[in-house]
Amino acid sequence: MKTLYEVMDGSSGDEEKLRKAGEILKAGGLVAFPTETVYGLGGDALNPASSRKIYAAKGRPSDNPLIVHICRLCDLDRIAWDTDKRAALVARAFWPGPLTMILNKKDVVPMETTGGLSTVAVRFPSHPVAQRMIDAAGGFVAAPSANTSGKPSPTSARYVAEDMDGKIDMILDGGDVGIGLESTILDLTEKDPMILRPGYVTQEMLEEVLGKVLVDRTILDASSAQRPKAPGMKYRHYAPKGELAIVEGEPERVTERINALCRQAAQEGKKTGVIAVDETASRYLADSVKSVGSREDEEAIAHSLYRILREFDDEGIEVMYSEAFSSHGMGQAIMNRLLKAAGHHVIRV
Ligand code: TXA
Ligand code: MG
Repeated sequence: MKTLYEVMDGSSGDEEKLRKAGEILKAGGLVAFPTETVYGLGGDALNPASSRKIYAAKGRPSDNPLIVHICRLCDLDRIAWDTDKRAALVARAFWPGPLTMILNKKDVVPMETTGGLSTVAVRFPSHPVAQRMIDAAGGFVAAPSANTSGKPSPTSARYVAEDMDGKIDMILDGGDVGIGLESTILDLTEKDPMILRPGYVTQEMLEEVLGKVLVDRTILDASSAQRPKAPGMKYRHYAPKGELAIVEGEPERVTERINALCRQAAQEGKKTGVIAVDETASRYLADSVKSVGSREDEEAIAHSLYRILREFDDEGIEVMYSEAFSSHGMGQAIMNRLLKAAGHHVIRV
């Protein structure tokens, strides 16, 4: 299949590209598009055949449900039951934006889209290209992140093309995304609201609106015997091709240990990489040292993490070490993705 690649440049030509994307989606095809979190791989959420195509293009297990993206608040109750109005409160506070709600689904949403579940994940993204494309497609677009299953989510169209070229109908290039990590997922189907995947919208922010909000224990804890409630969170994820470990402890000892580990790997003939921060990057000796930004700036860290993991892949780095980051606020999302990328391999010094 030839994949059309269209750059959204803010000119009047964008309208025609969006109209075409809408037609492809309505006809059951797949279009990758930018959102404020990561690029999505879109298909008509109400068409079971489209959802099957999404699973095939990503190589994703079909028990891992998709998020339905909407572009109007009033469309929420066409696809989901909101029994106690918590959804309305959350929507008013965080939509459009990087927040996904799990609600009980209505019959129009096919089981293919929800991976066989009777609940549905819904998100109203704030990115203008996403909103206009969803509108052109008829209002309901199922979209996982636009990466091959298991790889880091794409933060620019270039990475979408790397994974999806030849497998989907169209890529809309809207430049680099703003946030860089996937949306927060909030389950509202139980008595107590629970975060199933941390993101830009933090537990503290949600508690201001809802009161007590729980966090799925499996998010930062590999030893938990529980199964994560979001089926996708159980898979190895966000992972680079090389081997990644996180080194945690007092800063000077971390630097020392990472340098020793890199020396050892280099002696074994392996190409090494280090994920550092601006404050420490100059202290490392490795084939490739990358800073995610200042340790104080969580938004910068979130923004660069997936790009850096993909750059290490491109450079053929075989062994990588990362410093650990704070796990408060947005740091919870950063450490959750980093731990998964590392398969929970943490070295404490
Ligand atoms: O930021 C995002 O959310 C991006 C952009 C494209 O919107 N999308 C995204 O989708 O990250 P995906 O498919 O890569 O991740 C969706 C996650 C998976 O872990 C899946 O298991 C979970 O949401 N999920 C979807 N529906 C669910 C449901 N009904 N119950 C529990 N978890 C659900
Ligand atoms: Mg994903």
